[in-house]
Amino acid sequence: MIGIGIIGLGTVGTGTYKILKEHFALIKHRTGLHIEVVKIADIDLKRRKGLTIEKGIFTSNALDVINDRKVHIVVELIGGINPAYDYILSAIKQGKWIVTANKALLAEKWDKLFNVAARHNCEIGFEASVCGGIPVIRAIREGLVGNRILYILGILNGTSNYILSRMTDEGMSFNDALQEAQRLGIAEQDPTLDIEGIDAVHKLCILTRLAFHSPIKVNDIIRDGISRIEPIDIGFAKEFGYKIKLLAVAKERNDTIEARVEPAMLPVDHPMSNVNGVYNATYVVGDMTGPNLYYGKGAGAEPTGSAVVSDIVDMALRMREGRKTPIISVSMVEKKIRSGEESRVPYYIRFNAQDRPGVLSKISGILAKYNISISAVIQKGRKESGHVPIVMLTHEAIEKNLKQAKREINKLPVIKGESVHIRIEEGML
Ligand code: HSE
Repeated sequence: MIGIGIIGLGTVGTGTYKILKEHFALIKHRTGLHIEVVKIADIDLKRRKGLTIEKGIFTSNALDVINDRKVHIVVELIGGINPAYDYILSAIKQGKWIVTANKALLAEKWDKLFNVAARHNCEIGFEASVCGGIPVIRAIREGLVGNRILYILGILNGTSNYILSRMTDEGMSFNDALQEAQRLGIAEQDPTLDIEGIDAVHKLCILTRLAFHSPIKVNDIIRDGISRIEPIDIGFAKEFGYKIKLLAVAKERNDTIEARVEPAMLPVDHPMSNVNGVYNATYVVGDMTGPNLYYGKGAGAEPTGSAVVSDIVDMALRMREGRKTPIISVSMVEKKIRSGEESRVPYYIRFNAQDRPGVLSKISGILAKYNISISAVIQKGRKESGHVPIVMLTHEAIEKNLKQAKREINKLPVIKGESVHIRIEEGML
């Protein structure tokens, strides 16, 4: 018997418990394993309501799980850095193996966690930390082990994807779409982690480490959220054949890694443009496979519980074989990180300008000074206020130049308010 201890009986904890109970016989049939939940801790006693949990299993003290000799695998599902970090370290020191869905903890404390685990011959499973039910960690670590990974393009945050999808499909404002997402329980009451790209940065940090074997840190990833996106830009994007998505992008070229999470324009015919609503997807390009697309539910009790259970079963199989080391190493080699300023992509830019002769030439003159070449221009209608949106697409430009040109253009007396720039990600098909 492999004993499981769960710390945290929230959404994912409940899903994990339910799957282990309901699919006990199925898992036993497939693997021969007898996997049993022997201890569950949650500070909120009400959480066990509605679940059939036998007497003596539920406790309000996480240490009861960690110290129980019948527990072989500790499943940490409380999230956040502390006390989750302390619980995991003390469980590892007792020789327990760990399964966690805690992306913030992994992103922030990866080196310490895996060093301590290696010293104690323990393993940490984290399939549930990225993209909920989609087995993307296993795909990158095992399925693509014979590839050099060239490129990762992720839609890793369901909340932001839902909001942008509603803005795109229904023409809603950001605030209305956010409020709807909150009413439906998709967005948190404090949505900062999701809408400002922080959650997606944590997930991209994990994927990038696995794909490129370099100890990339949260602060190495360039980040921008979706709250600045306006319906007018979504409309212009459509006219040019693009959709705006919160994209997590990581690429390696010449031993240099570039990683960023930000709203960007993706061609409508790219497969990732059809990832809508709360769905997540990761598009991974291997040098041998070419592009692969992993798509599915990125959150929720059962999908994320399914990922937790996959780690539990994988570990239990290895425990049965008496294997002490992980199948695939997570050791890292430091690589260079490309700063945002040096990055080079095409851009969408929107200026709010006076509609009179010579304005376009003033704008294009400044762009030319910074070596930025225009590939398309739209100017719409004549407004009574005398200001109209002028929208341009550029050929590939260096980010530093683009920002400097924008600052100079903003200072022209014919320009009103702040201009907008959005990256265009062609998506490496
Ligand atoms: N809050 C996350 C999202 C789900 O909106 O995708 C958990 O990772």
